[in-house]
Amino acid sequence: MIILGIETSCDETAAAVVENGTRILSNDVASSAEMHAKTGGIIPEQAARQQVKAIIPVIQEALLTTSIHLVPYIDAIAVTVGPGLIGSLLVGVETAKTLAYVWGKPIIPVNHLVAHIYANFIREFTISNSQFTNKETPKFPALALVVSGGHTDLVLMTSHGKLKRVGGTRDDAAGEAFDKSARLLGLPYPGGPSISKLADRYLKTDNRKLILFPRPLIDERSFDFSFSGLKTAVAREVQNHKKYILNHKSEIAAEIQEAIVDVLVDKTLKAVEKYKPRSLLLSGGVAANKRLRKKLQSSVQQLNSSPVNLFIPEPRLCTDNAATIASCAFFNNNPTPWQKISANPELTIAD
Ligand code: KG4
Ligand code: ZN
Repeated sequence: MIILGIETSCDETAAAVVENGTRILSNDVASSAEMHAKTGGIIPEQAARQQVKAIIPVIQEALLTTSIHLVPYIDAIAVTVGPGLIGSLLVGVETAKTLAYVWGKPIIPVNHLVAHIYANFIREFTISNSQFTNKETPKFPALALVVSGGHTDLVLMTSHGKLKRVGGTRDDAAGEAFDKSARLLGLPYPGGPSISKLADRYLKTDNRKLILFPRPLIDERSFDFSFSGLKTAVAREVQNHKKYILNHKSEIAAEIQEAIVDVLVDKTLKAVEKYKPRSLLLSGGVAANKRLRKKLQSSVQQLNSSPVNLFIPEPRLCTDNAATIASCAFFNNNPTPWQKISANPELTIAD
């Protein structure tokens, strides 16, 4: 089954063609991040306007990148219906409906957060002419940590379509904590990659830590997170020791990253110990963070309890893309008449 995926929930406009949920035939992403870097964050109206312009060229690119024209082979169209920015979601949803009507093909509505998890089910893809293959497929029950710009969720999956949220953030998401802290330090949007770059530089040259930020809820038994206190702590330091902080941005960046990663890894491992899943699936934009990937990997290796198979997708499949949308649609196949499809910005991972 060949599915065209369409994703426009935030500032990316993406289209991809995926075979049987596992083999990427094409994967194209146009980002308006540069535009948002100038304003220090996303202005929803501007993001949507860019997406209106970008959507058809991106879809065309996805359908033509292989040597053949893929339209006759497309069995269904998958589209993100939520959560996300309403103006942005509408661009993808209405385009998908139009194509479905004109081509006479079914639409499969997709939850963006669930789709992030499916980066772990993709087994074959090509990047710059080199072929990547993952031999293994996640086995159930699986525990997924979904860490994105707007959401942080720990989810237990007993099969495709059977998801239970076992924990998540009570306030800011992990990506939001990176983005807001970066903004306080005057670092460019998106904040995650900016903080990560500075932090990596610091960790290579120095390990001293003069500043310690809080690790909220780390000693609590629940699998909940809270990141808003971190942003407040960074804001307080900037206010009270402005000169020192601005002269030591890389040290601060390293400690912000460490505080976020420590809590994510600690809570995830506690959930592994409790639920004893066969697979652990990292996903969402923050999963592209090198320190998180490394720390989770080494912590899983040191676990005494039952072995869990850790999956960490390629960084470009962690951030927003449409291949995960098409993959999720394949494994949760629920074709819906286009008349019944609508965008839902408030969708949660449990819906
Ligand atoms: O999943 P995603 O691409 O979009 C949403 O669904 O929100 O996640 C975007 C988030 C942003 O907060 C961004 O700063 C963060 O992922 N991010 C990172 C890294 N790359 C992206 N955070 C930390 N380290 C990174 N390397
Ligand atoms: Zn996302």
